[in-house]
Amino acid sequence: MTDTISAEDNQRIIGRDDIDNLESIMSVPLTDPTEVEHVVANNADSIFTWDYSLARPALRKLYEKAKVGQWNAATDLPWDTDVDLEKVVREDQANIGSGISPEWYKDTKLASWGDKEWTEFGIHSRRWSLSQFLHGEQGALICTAKITETVPWYDAKLYASTQVVDEARHVEVFARYLDEKLGGGYPINPHLRLLLDDIVNDSRWDFTYLGMQIMVEGLALAAFGYLHQLTGEPLLKQLLRYVMSDEARHVAFGVLSLKEVYDEMSDPEIKERQEFAYEASLRMRDRFLQQEVWHHMGVDPKSVIPLVINDPTRKVFQQMLFAKIVPNCKKLGLLDRNESWLRRRFEEMGVIQFEHWESTGDEYLKFEIGKPLADPVAAAHA
Ligand SMILES: [Fe+2]
Ligand SMILES: [Fe+2]
Repeated sequence: MTDTISAEDNQRIIGRDDIDNLESIMSVPLTDPTEVEHVVANNADSIFTWDYSLARPALRKLYEKAKVGQWNAATDLPWDTDVDLEKVVREDQANIGSGISPEWYKDTKLASWGDKEWTEFGIHSRRWSLSQFLHGEQGALICTAKITETVPWYDAKLYASTQVVDEARHVEVFARYLDEKLGGGYPINPHLRLLLDDIVNDSRWDFTYLGMQIMVEGLALAAFGYLHQLTGEPLLKQLLRYVMSDEARHVAFGVLSLKEVYDEMSDPEIKERQEFAYEASLRMRDRFLQQEVWHHMGVDPKSVIPLVINDPTRKVFQQMLFAKIVPNCKKLGLLDRNESWLRRRFEEMGVIQFEHWESTGDEYLKFEIGKPLADPVAAAHA
């Protein structure tokens, strides 16, 4: 490919010369499990608006949808479900596999793993994944509180305020599920933390949307859809279904808001947004290497992560996580501005094939509770 990104650009955007430089990826320190608070400077201005007119009907419609789409995490989910974690993991693995290709690791410690170790790995992967969902949900809670203050439009402030309540509910359900059903969770992954820090720290209001609604929530919507489809655990299945009904609105909020802003932006301004989308994509890809789980399993991450990064089963899963991000970036005009800069990056990451999928700005109504969801696994293979 002629238009490959330079080592200098990678260094400037993500702090390493090569996106697959594993030394550098693994050098980010893991989060201290005893840490209780994490402080991030928020550099954005709070903006009042005196224009209370209905200027953006699409956002007002979303606000009306949000008001009637509320649910109660304490009473609408079957919390009395008995979750036998080992059994659930074994059944889910029988259904879809462990998420990696075991034969890929024949020269590592994994070659000696039996059923017991694979089940243990599955249990910890589940705990780890849901923990990252939980921390990401708190990121969304903070980001939408921030958007309520920083977005200059009345209709968007109204909508964002409903998303704050939605995110509080999501934090509530994941924290409760981890505590009551999985026996505890993991600290935030350092790559996810770096991304959330960047989003909260940035002074430009549209960056909160781009980082959270388009990138983090776009990935979450795809990941929730995948887990919802594969798991046979009824409480988790319903919990994810309810969260997805909110999450689709959230991603739509990002698409509908940013479309208007990005259509008016200059090429240099768009370039900064494209680079940020690229950085966020890589941070999220890096976190899926799940270093913490390897540590727990007594496996040196350095011995397996070079294999994980090219594992074919893993790759299919990772690519699917971009099923919402790519069409939404396209809808916003981010793929093809500046000589298709972001398109080239998504090509390098092997995720450009999703560009023709429906954007969430159009499809969010399909996620309302009670409507049947499309099978994301079948769709990715179609
Ligand atoms: Fe959420
Ligand atoms: Fe959300």
